[in-house]
Amino acid sequence: MTSTSTPNDKSSTRGLGTGAARWQRSHNLGELDASHAGKEVILMGWVHRRRDHGQLVFIDLRDRFGLTQVVIDPAIAPSLMETAATIRNEFVLAIKGVVNKRPDGMINKGLPTGGIEVSVNELRVLNACDVLPFPVSDEAETSESLRLKYRYLDLRRPRLKDNILKRVKFVKAMRRALESHGFLDIETPFLYKSTPEGAREFLVPSRVHPAQFYALPQSPQLFKQVLMISGFDRYYQVVKCFRDEDLRADRQPEFTQVDCEMSFVDEEAILATFESIIRQAVGEFFDGEQIPVFPRMNYDDAMEHYGVDKPDTRFDLKLQDVSRIVGSSGFKVFAEAISTGGIVNAIVVKGQADAFSRKDIDELTDFVRQYGAKGLAWAKKGQGSGVASWQSPIGKFLSDETVDAIDHKTGAQAGDLILFGAGGYDMTKASLGALRNHLGARLKLYDPEQLNFLWVVGFPLLEKDPDSNRWIAKHHPFTSPRPEDIGYLSSDPGRVRASAYDLVLNGNEVAGGSIRIHDPEVQKKVFATVGLTDGEAQAKFGFLLEALKFGAPPHGGIAFGLDRLTMILTGCDAIRDVIVFPKTQKGTCLMTGAPGEVSLDQLRDLHIRVHRLE
Ligand code: AMO
Ligand code: AMP
Repeated sequence: MTSTSTPNDKSSTRGLGTGAARWQRSHNLGELDASHAGKEVILMGWVHRRRDHGQLVFIDLRDRFGLTQVVIDPAIAPSLMETAATIRNEFVLAIKGVVNKRPDGMINKGLPTGGIEVSVNELRVLNACDVLPFPVSDEAETSESLRLKYRYLDLRRPRLKDNILKRVKFVKAMRRALESHGFLDIETPFLYKSTPEGAREFLVPSRVHPAQFYALPQSPQLFKQVLMISGFDRYYQVVKCFRDEDLRADRQPEFTQVDCEMSFVDEEAILATFESIIRQAVGEFFDGEQIPVFPRMNYDDAMEHYGVDKPDTRFDLKLQDVSRIVGSSGFKVFAEAISTGGIVNAIVVKGQADAFSRKDIDELTDFVRQYGAKGLAWAKKGQGSGVASWQSPIGKFLSDETVDAIDHKTGAQAGDLILFGAGGYDMTKASLGALRNHLGARLKLYDPEQLNFLWVVGFPLLEKDPDSNRWIAKHHPFTSPRPEDIGYLSSDPGRVRASAYDLVLNGNEVAGGSIRIHDPEVQKKVFATVGLTDGEAQAKFGFLLEALKFGAPPHGGIAFGLDRLTMILTGCDAIRDVIVFPKTQKGTCLMTGAPGEVSLDQLRDLHIRVHRLE
């Protein structure tokens, strides 16, 4: 018995049928094997590929579980051949058929279902598919804008589909790890007043309250603190956060945090708990792999040796301080940097003296200029000692003793390239830190499969805002000073370290958090130090300040950037690759066309008149 229906056949058009004709999928497309031989099955899925072999039509049907080969054979189902001829890639089919073992020579060992094929007796075309804007069955190079416009098609392709499935797997592992540590999954509002994370906020006008606005949360920071005051003890949430900032490969305007908070803990307890959770979750993600314990690094050491607060520890290439050696040298650039309170640092690129041409070094110089550097002095170390052993534009300004001292301090040997940055501390560290990462990637100094987790601790509580020259909170103003540093709050604010920590993975900041202030007196002191008056603090975070007076337990927490973590765990370069519907660098959604204009009626309801400012 064979039957067929096409999209034009009104009796059962594109449906699964009713009554006796109702079809229900019996198996997915990744699960049939030789043990099912002889069974009648009903399969449904997309046409991944079709091949005509003379009279026979072979179709690879695809769903998210896999591919199964089905065969339409005129000797078995002659009435299907007409329909079979109309089938194109990405049509949606339902078939009823019988599982057959493939003959020995035809087995596809690369496919879990490769030992069988399904001989079709009945066929329904559940839907047709227009001409595709790009092939789905392979990863043929396609512009990203086209892929974002037809995101649903890109999501059918293996690379993106696998990324999303891996993200699902990781979220599941994180939830399991958090729940096994007693964390409760609790939701918090999106329509909200204001959060103190420092980015620009997305605003939502209120219809009921003319000229008033909600802000979308940059994170649930204050709510989770209040939940601790409510006594929930351990909270987590996989939650969207909204920040109107300039976008980069690792930043989206809406992104997801695994946001966590816990009570009755100090910094040490938080680090231990979340290290255990991440090792459990990442271990589960990699099917039982042992994740090594996380080393810790002080913020000051990170800046000193890596030039950034998120060091990539998969490779060496550290920044080395040669200020003392060159401070009184004849090279004006170096001497001036030191006499004006700055530094001179060197990076030794092992064995690369010959690999870098003048042009290459010019490119590196342009690279550091983006970070404010005035130049990039260099030397190629050859055999011997003293100035004669250096090929360098600055050799003529240096003495033999200085060159030997630099070689000795930095460990430079024949064949090495030495690069120097000179200037103010922050700029020199930032530019050489970025150069270090750039060289690490360019010279492939690390195994891309390796995962180096690292806690960075001991951040300063405050930093000077360069514009106003006033102290501002480095993390957020609810972050607790380290208890031993509270005394410096009024005498030497720059010296106060925070009970704050970041988790770094391969040079990316994948989480950040802190112990919070739970003592209203300390909170007042911190506000005063950052120049927030009582009135301003009250207007901005009055509810929190009040809540702190009603029995707040010591508490602290952390938020993991889920998109960044998944990006690294899946080996992707951009968080767009692990987000189902991401925005472009300009914050637009090419699939839905967001953002867009709204009707005058909608605006009127919101008491808004749009007047474009020039
Ligand atoms: P923070 O602002 O450090 O901390 O954010 C936590 C983590 O979120 C990720 N992240 C982002 N990911 C993608 N796109 C963005 N625009 C983006 N911004 C941040 C980063 C970062 O480490 N409330 C505090 C946490 C706390 O103190 O508990 C907070 O939000 O991986
Ligand atoms: P100049 O004296 O300007 O010709 O520079 C000589 C070398 O020093 C060149 O290789 C410059 O790139 C380098 N240089 C200039 N300024 C700096 C700086 N602030 N830090 C490091 N190198 C520099």
